Amino acid sequence: MGMLTYTGIYFLLLLPSVFCWGKQGHFAICKIAQGFLSKDALTAVKALLPEYADGDLAAVCSWADEVRFHMRWSSPLHYVDTPDFRCNYKYCRDCHDSVGRKDRCVTGAIHNYTEQLLLGVHDLNSKMNNNLTEALMFLSHFVGDVHQPLHVGFLGDEGGNTITVRWYRRKTNLHHVWDTMMIESSLKTFYNSDLSSLIQAIQSNITGVWLTDSLSWSNCTADHVVCPDPYASESIELACKFAYRNATPGTTLGDEYFLSRLPVAEKRLAQAGVRLAATLNRIFTSNPSDLTRLNMHNGGHRSSNNIEIV
Ligand SMILES: *[C@@H]1O[C@H](CO)[C@@H](O)[C@H](O)[C@H]1NC(C)=O
Ligand SMILES: *[C@@H]1O[C@H](CO)[C@@H](O)[C@H](O)[C@H]1NC(C)=O
Ligand SMILES: *[C@@H]1O[C@H](CO)[C@@H](O)[C@H](O)[C@H]1NC(C)=O
Ligand SMILES: *[C@@H]1O[C@H](CO)[C@@H](O)[C@H](O)[C@H]1NC(C)=O
Ligand SMILES: [Zn+2]
Repeated sequence: MGMLTYTGIYFLLLLPSVFCWGKQGHFAICKIAQGFLSKDALTAVKALLPEYADGDLAAVCSWADEVRFHMRWSSPLHYVDTPDFRCNYKYCRDCHDSVGRKDRCVTGAIHNYTEQLLLGVHDLNSKMNNNLTEALMFLSHFVGDVHQPLHVGFLGDEGGNTITVRWYRRKTNLHHVWDTMMIESSLKTFYNSDLSSLIQAIQSNITGVWLTDSLSWSNCTADHVVCPDPYASESIELACKFAYRNATPGTTLGDEYFLSRLPVAEKRLAQAGVRLAATLNRIFTSNPSDLTRLNMHNGGHRSSNNIEIV
């Protein structure tokens, strides 16, 4: 028995740290989203949230990360890998897990949980018995993840997880820099370590300098309820242009990298928040006749143009 336990712990220590936006990133995304929910969506979301969340979606935004080790099957749903150095994403080519099971990736999961919520809300699947609280928590988390550029990264380096770098003095990996370190550094440097100040700054940009842009962030083409594929395409393009660039193994990343990449990361938090709200607003629309227009199926996936890494 003792031996088994020991091996278990040892194994855990060997697991790569493949968490997604850190707790703070996910918290910010869900906070921003909740601010843009329609009245109907807010009511529905509050009804689905577990009691301990106390009506706050942000409180459960990292739940999917907390359960990913005991719900092993959910682990591949946090990201999607693309072929090395291609800088584009295609649903049919890329959305599968490491043993090739189709749809088991972050964009597939976003479709899955959107569909469960839609069917549940409009009472079309009383027999299927999906846990809609979990569906809401998964969806809110995965819409965040798909916006983290390195969650749509190259297969060979596991989205930057195997690229060892220094973040200022600290040894870490490139994936972790984008999940956590960059946001932590920005909080310390610019926001007096206060997450709510960062969230407020992002919110005022959404309704201020980014307004023209942000009005279009929430659109899905062809009346789709949810459209994660263009978000994944944006992520891999940003990964190539900003995340991987000048961050080869062994590099020390400092002010130059931090100050040029931080605006990209902050805009991704904003887009994720706005798009999560828009998706939940479409799911929880009080007008079910809209449903006939809604296309929930996975057909017609878009992919980006082929941009080579520079
Ligand atoms: C869809 O959701 C169900 C319930 O959580 C889960 O068992 C299944 O693995 C999910 N599939 C994908 C592709 O997300
Ligand atoms: C739904 O999932 C939540 C979170 O895992 C759990 O606490 C709750 O008991 C589940 N509800 C049902 C009816 O299984
Ligand atoms: C808000 O927008 C300004 C102007 O573009 C930019 O300098 C600043 O970094 C943005 N702040 C956040 C938190 O996104
Ligand atoms: C997004 O939707 C708004 C409101 O319907 C519309 O005015 C705008 O033109 C759309 N933008 C894009 C890029 O489709
Ligand atoms: Zn995640």
